[in-house]
Amino acid sequence: MTSSSSTLIVEQLTKSYPTPEGSLSILRGVNLQMERGDALAITGPSGSGKSTLLYILGALDSPTSGRVELNGQQAVNLLEMEQARFRNSQVGFIFQDHHLLPQCSVLENVLIPTLAGKGADDAATERARKLLDRVGLADRLTHRPAQLSGGERQRVAVCRALINEPVLLLADEPTGNLDRTTAASVGSLLLDLNREQNTLLVCVTHSLELANRFPRHYELEEGQLVSRKG
Ligand SMILES: Nc1ncnc2c1ncn2[C@@H]1O[C@H](COP(=O)(O)OP(=O)(O)O)[C@@H](O)[C@H]1O
Ligand SMILES: [Mg+2]
Repeated sequence: MTSSSSTLIVEQLTKSYPTPEGSLSILRGVNLQMERGDALAITGPSGSGKSTLLYILGALDSPTSGRVELNGQQAVNLLEMEQARFRNSQVGFIFQDHHLLPQCSVLENVLIPTLAGKGADDAATERARKLLDRVGLADRLTHRPAQLSGGERQRVAVCRALINEPVLLLADEPTGNLDRTTAASVGSLLLDLNREQNTLLVCVTHSLELANRFPRHYELEEGQLVSRKG
């Protein structure tokens, strides 16, 4: 459940990679604060570190230095098992490619993140049905991903990201593979769900059109977040 005090605090976050030519500095002091219900878009040139930042926010990667705190908890301080649990229960991830399992039905795909916890019980199945109904796929529960359009597959991926009721929803170019109209509707869905479920939403996008619809818009520039709006 999202508590009333959902916050994300990022302070002086840096990330660099060692290379034969020396250290390659990608993130150079990212600062960010988000509170319950906040939605922000991040744009920036290819290779500027947008995915790297999202992965660190979602505890899929660790920073070189700095602090990332979600609801008072720093994932880097957790043991590996606890970190996996933290990710699974607190963070939802949506990728450019839907990453659905082709052999599983729509309903099964949405339930996958619940399998690591106490399993897909009746309550989880009920939540999955409700989410799929919410995104207009109630009559597609038994379909395989191949039987859906690109936009529909991405809507399933959105449901899968929300099934464990995460505090933080991270989307990495979620509309990058969609045509303009479909992209706009998936964008609307993300923004609507963010308001309905009071998640923290961070969306990386190439689309200025989509970024401008977010209450806050930052650009990743030379390893730092620069506010464009909000
Ligand atoms: N494991 C790694 N080792 C070295 N460099 C990396 C590694 N992962 C990513 N990079 C580099 O970090 C930069 C940022 O990558 P990324 O976050 O994927 O950018 P974006 O998502 O903005 O396109 C790129 O220059 C990429 O080559
Ligand atoms: Mg990227």
